[in-house]
This record gives sequence, C-alpha cells and structure tokens, in this order.
Amino acid sequence: MTEINKDELSWDEWDELMRPTEETTGFDRVVEAGLSRRGFLNGLVAFGSGAAVMGLGTGVNLLNTASAQAQDAGRFAFTPVTTATDATVHVPEGYTWDLLVKWGDKLFSDAAEFDHATGGDAESSDRVFGENTDGMELFVFGDKQVIAVNHEYVNPKINLPHTEDGKPQAAADVRKLQNLQGVAVIEVAEGENGWSVVVDSPYNRRITHNTPMRISGPAAGHDLLKTEADPTGTQSLGTFNNCGAGKTPWGTYLTCEENFNGYFGSTDENYERPEDFKRYGINNESRYNYEKFDDRFDISKNFNEPRRAGYIVEIDPGDPTSTPVKRTALGRFKHENAACAVARDGRVVVYMGDDERGEFLYKFVSDGVYTPGASTDNLLDEGTLYVARFNDDGSGEWLALTEETTGMSTAEISIYSRMAASKVGATTMDRPEWVAVNPVAVEAYCALTNNKNRAVKPNAGGDPTPVNGPNPRAENHYGQIVRWYPANDDHVDPGFKWDLFVMAGNPLVHEDAYAGSANINDGNLFNSPDGMMFDTSGLLWIQTDGNYKNEGDFAGMGNNQMLVGDPVTGRIERFMTVPYGSEVTGITWSADKRTLFVGIQHPAAPFPDGEGKLARSSVIAVKRADNGRIG
Ligand code: FEO
Ligand code: CA
Ligand code: CA
Ligand code: CA
Repeated sequence: MTEINKDELSWDEWDELMRPTEETTGFDRVVEAGLSRRGFLNGLVAFGSGAAVMGLGTGVNLLNTASAQAQDAGRFAFTPVTTATDATVHVPEGYTWDLLVKWGDKLFSDAAEFDHATGGDAESSDRVFGENTDGMELFVFGDKQVIAVNHEYVNPKINLPHTEDGKPQAAADVRKLQNLQGVAVIEVAEGENGWSVVVDSPYNRRITHNTPMRISGPAAGHDLLKTEADPTGTQSLGTFNNCGAGKTPWGTYLTCEENFNGYFGSTDENYERPEDFKRYGINNESRYNYEKFDDRFDISKNFNEPRRAGYIVEIDPGDPTSTPVKRTALGRFKHENAACAVARDGRVVVYMGDDERGEFLYKFVSDGVYTPGASTDNLLDEGTLYVARFNDDGSGEWLALTEETTGMSTAEISIYSRMAASKVGATTMDRPEWVAVNPVAVEAYCALTNNKNRAVKPNAGGDPTPVNGPNPRAENHYGQIVRWYPANDDHVDPGFKWDLFVMAGNPLVHEDAYAGSANINDGNLFNSPDGMMFDTSGLLWIQTDGNYKNEGDFAGMGNNQMLVGDPVTGRIERFMTVPYGSEVTGITWSADKRTLFVGIQHPAAPFPDGEGKLARSSVIAVKRADNGRIG
C-alpha cells in the first residue's frame, strides 16, 4: 500500500486530505453522453442562437484554427515551442532567457552568500530573496524600476536540509521558514550583463510572516479580530501564502493571502474548532508545525489569529518604511489575485477569485471614485463586495453581499465572506485562480484551474456543485477560462454576459468534452490554467500549474508552460515551457516592454544551479534577440 506523504502534496491536495467532505450522489456525474465535441460546444458556448454573445463582437469560440491562423498570424510574434519534459526553460527561436534572481540571493550586502549545504543562512533569511516566487508587478519611480513579488510558501525539506522530514526542530527553524515567505520589493536594473537586483537599493525590502500590518476596513477592531497581543484588533503581524497579486490604479501593490489556513494548528489535539474554521480549512494539524514553537499560530491559545489572515494587503513599494494595510473590505477567503479596473464614473473595481474547489468569484466596487492625485486611502475600505452568479443561458449577475441580503453585519461579511456568498446563491466554481482585465476591451477573464470534485462533492460549506454553465465538466482535471462582458460596457454594472474562452482538454485521448474546446489542438495542449495577465496589446498570457506527468489523460502536454491567447480569434499558442516539477507563475514587464519577467516556482528539477545542488525558485528575464518589444 502506498503511504501518502503529506509533505509532498500540493496545498490544495493537502487541504483535501485534512478536510474530507462526504461524497454525495444525485449529481449529474458525467457530462451528457453522446454529445460530440463540437455539438457540446455549440450548446455550451454559443447559447442557442448565439446572438447574445456574438452580438458583443468578441464571442468567437468555435473557430476553425487553420483559418484563424491565416487571419491573425501577425498578432503572434513568435514560433510556438513544442512541449518539453526536461529540466530547463525553453523559449521560441529568436528569444533568450536569463536569470534575474533566485531564492537565497542577497538583497542586502550584509546577508550571507547562499550555501547549498544549509539551505541558506537562517540569520539573514529576511535579507535575501524568498522562496516560491509567485505574483509580481513592476513599478517605476523616476529612472528606477522596482518589482514587488510574492513568496507564496516554502519547500521545508530543501530549506531545512538538517531536518529529516523538513519539520522545524526549533524556534529558529520556524523563524527561517517565516522569513522566506511573504513579499520582496527589489530594485532591478539592466546592465551589460543583463538584468540583476540592485543590492542595497533603498527600495529593497522583505515583508515576512512577522512584519507589522495595519488592519483597515469594516472588520478592523471587531471582536473577532482581537487577540491578547492586540486588544485593538487593528494591528497584526505578517502576511501569509501570498499567491497572485495586483496593482492599483494609483501605483500600489496588492498581495493576496491564499492558503493561510495551513499555517495554524493546535498543540491540544482535542481542541474543538469553531464552525468557521471548518469552512476555511483551519485544522488542528498544520503544515509546518509553527504552533509548536510560536504560540501565535496555536489555535488552542490564539483562536482569533487565523481570522486576521485571508485578506488582500496593500503595500506601497515606493516607501520601504510604510506599513502594509490589510484591506478587509475585499473579503476573506483564499485570495488568488486582485485585478483592478476603473469604471466609467471613476469607481474602483477589484475582481478576485477564491481558489478552492466549489468556491466563488468575487468583485469589490468602491463607494468613492479614483481621482489621480487625490487621497486613495479609503477607496479599498468603503464599498460593496459582490459574488458572481452565472446562468446557463450565458447571462449572469453580481449579487451584493449586504446586511439585507445576508443577515450579517458588514464586518461579518468581511470576515466570513464565504458564508455570506453561500447565502445569496452564488455559482460554485472550478477553483477560481487569476482574473485578468483586458486593457483594450471591456471584458475580464478568470482561470478555473481544475476541480476533480465537480459533480462529486459539495464545497466545504455544503453547497452542491453540479455541472453548471461555466463549469460544464464533471471531475474536471483540465480546467477552463471563463470570460465576462459587463453590461453596458461598465465594470460596475451588476449584469454581464459570459462565455468560455477555452476549455483545456486532450483531443489525443478523448473525443467528448474532455477533448477541450475547438481552439485546442495538438500544437497547444495544456492543462490547469492558473496565472494570467494581459499585455498592452490585449493578448492574454496564460500560465499553467498542472499535471506534468505527460501520460494518460495528460499525454502530450509535458511540463508546465506559458501560452499566449488572442481574445478576438480564440487562437492560443505555446510560448514557453519550464523545468519539470515547476509551476510557471507571476509575470510582469520592464518599463520599456522589452523584457518579460516570469516566475519559476518550486522546481523539482535541479534548476537553475544543476545536478547536486538545491532546486531554487527563480525569476527569469525573457528578451527578444533583436531587443524588440514583447507585449
Ligand atoms: Fe497559489 Fe491558487 O494558487
Ligand atoms: Ca496560482
Ligand atoms: Ca494552481
Ligand atoms: Ca503555486
């Protein structure tokens, strides 16, 4: 019998193991049998007459790939790469890649050089580039370029090689892991030898699991957020599991707390968890044993501490002395990223996914309007949180979470957002990962990465998850990208139309809906879309975090990859493959758009230092050999 090694599970698999939900019957277990692939799509995407979506001018899903290629060849300035299963990065011919920074690289000259024997010096672990790079954004201050980048989680067996199983043996081990996560702010510069971090730049900063934060918005000061150490409920320490990111229109960084639940545990194994802990997956067993050495993470002693995590945090990358602000009005869930838009009247819209099987897609709309130059401090504190309902006919609506609709106070809606969303009948989704807002059309996209529980189990709140419009496949292990077109071309409008931009799948293995949509072909196979970002020309860059075994259902897909999609034609081509075992996540551009920065997270391959060396999560810089623009 194979023992499950919990340390090697992904965060979502770990969650699933810790919190098994009852299998249920009565759901539609399979996508309707006998539907041909194209027939399936006609029903799904074109919505009967198709007029509703086609009328908007962008709902072209049922493309014929060959003719689309003829029409839009000029939009893709590269020759697609083939799949790979090896230990390095591949980019198209005529492009190059180089390392910008990797885990353990010094941000300050007084930090120790990285040591492969120790997994890096513990003392200076908050003065180096952290682990598991994820979402990032580039900011320009005069002639300086500064990247803010997330460090989502750690790989403790690699980070603590002196331990047998990667479990911290002492408070110092916990402190090291805490230091390697959070956020880095780094000044970067391009010189004769390419891009590098400007060591000792006054912009350089590490934000960790212990950095002081201010809590703002409706939940600030609420009893549920008060602890012995902070009786005000407004001052917390640290930001956790920083996954995707976002950039506000006023130039601050939004870092998104995703699987925060895994850091908390109980030293009392009989501790009876409150109900809300179950919905959020906070268990007596933690992932890294913080609670054994740091009381703050012991829920039997500090049961409000996890309620101070799971938010979006705003950071000013231009001021290294600024205090990050937890913006509770944006809700508390497993935040993937934060995609901002400014509505016609100046109100600020933030789209956000809750990445867990059967959870929801959210939108925040500010009360105030954004006026360049005016104070922005309250814009993300006062407003309304909405959750999406997708109807099978291609329409949808944003349901407001208010005292009237939920029977909860505004503070409770901010802290228990999942429960609020369950009350209003939102659509359960296939793990909403990144949202991206198209800069050249009024539309937004969300990567629904996969959901093996679709039509198998309810979500953690007991909401049923039958197949539904944007989540049309039971036991969906390939994922899809849904997009929506706000009514009246206005992101604050509560109505929208939607369609699927792509359903990933494998036409080499399947002939039914699991073959994917018609814009999937043997040249662009992929699974599990996750990171997404638009470039300035309106092309969508898609990053995957999926199964890289290259066999069975995933045969022919190879390692994780980054693809480029054209929203107008639906054409998708593969731009990059990454080392085996790694996820490609996080993407941003240099000020002149001639460099594309891309994150390589948790490689299993000995990347980038080679055999016999520790694998190190890295950010790479991709350029065109002719130094042309990339996006
Ligand atoms: Fe950290 Fe949902 O990815
Ligand atoms: Ca992700
Ligand atoms: Ca993912
Ligand atoms: Ca990840």
